[in-house]
Amino acid sequence: MTNQNVYPEGELLLRTSPMPSDTNSNGDIFGGWIMSQMDIAGGMMAIEITGGRAVTIAVDAMKFIKPVKVGDIVCCYGKVTRIGTTSIAIRLEVWVKPGFREIALDRENAFFMVTEASYTYVAIDKDGRKRQFPKPEKC
Ligand SMILES: CC(C)(COP(=O)(O)OP(=O)(O)OC[C@H]1O[C@@H](n2cnc3c(N)ncnc32)[C@H](O)[C@@H]1OP(=O)(O)O)[C@@H](O)C(=O)NCCC(=O)NCCS
Repeated sequence: MTNQNVYPEGELLLRTSPMPSDTNSNGDIFGGWIMSQMDIAGGMMAIEITGGRAVTIAVDAMKFIKPVKVGDIVCCYGKVTRIGTTSIAIRLEVWVKPGFREIALDRENAFFMVTEASYTYVAIDKDGRKRQFPKPEKC
């Protein structure tokens, strides 16, 4: 599923910018670095909603739509799509504002989505076992 929206969906969870050490041999940012930022962003949301520890149990299929470059401003947005008994699914989108590359001044490329995925987290107790959590009234 690809979001055709012009604007991101969900709450802004994280803003960051990759360093030269995050690049692959093409000079683009590693897909794994982006997945990691998404996991950090979704993990923070899962902790807030479940009221304690949470771990990633699954990530659905991902497609990297456009490359990310050093100096880009990477923004991760999240929206809860399902709350289960012990788990929570969060749809995450990553959008980029080009930092100091040439397209930064091109309005059509001023802000674009580079990937999206659904991450599922399980609430766990201090011993690492799944735990139930109260469903929030609104999220
Ligand atoms: C998280 C963990 C404690 C769950 O253990 P478990 O008792 O075997 O869990 P279950 O298979 O009963 O699933 C727990 C929940 O996850 C959901 N789930 C399981 N597999 C899933 C999948 N592939 N996709 C989406 N949700 C899934 C279940 O539906 C259930 O949700 P619900 O209670 O809301 O209905 C265990 O799998 C674990 O420790 N995994 C490693 C986590 C980890 O280290 N992550 C990476 C680093 S953060």
